[in-house]
Amino acid sequence: MTHRSILASTILAIATVVSLPANAQDAAAGEGVFKRVCSTCHNAAAEGPRKLGPTMHGVVGRKAASVEGFRYSTAKRDADLVWTPEKLSAYLLNPREFMPGTTMAYAGLKSDTDRANVIAYLQTLK
Ligand code: HEC
Repeated sequence: MTHRSILASTILAIATVVSLPANAQDAAAGEGVFKRVCSTCHNAAAEGPRKLGPTMHGVVGRKAASVEGFRYSTAKRDADLVWTPEKLSAYLLNPREFMPGTTMAYAGLKSDTDRANVIAYLQTLK
């Protein structure tokens, strides 16, 4: 190993160690946000009582409007997109601006921290 690659792997190792607890904390904080704000309308479990909105189980990486049996709005069905963290952030900031015609009656999660945390939490639902 050259000095340079030792240095590079040391930096990588430190970055990994530093970022892990932070991510775990974000997801935990995000679970709080989800329970407080989203869980009235969304379930987090794959199986569970049907609520006003579709389940959030596995939503990150899922095609929009793809929960079997859920009656989505036309806007949602026509939105040909996959829920990446970036798309989720834009949607959650202002659902009706991002997706005019969505039936998600929610004004938006304006706090950048809350949005990042809730998305970190959604990523754990698989
Ligand atoms: C008042 C009820 C309500 C609240 C509160 C709410 N949602 Fe929704 N959500 C819905 C409905 C209804 C839909 C389906 C919308 C459509 O078909 O246009 C939806 C759709 C979604 C979708 C798209 C799912 C898919 O399968 O394409 C995501 C992602 C989502 N909501 C996340 C959230 C998050 C995260 C929160 C909390 C910050 C939240 N929602 C708060 C009712 C709600």
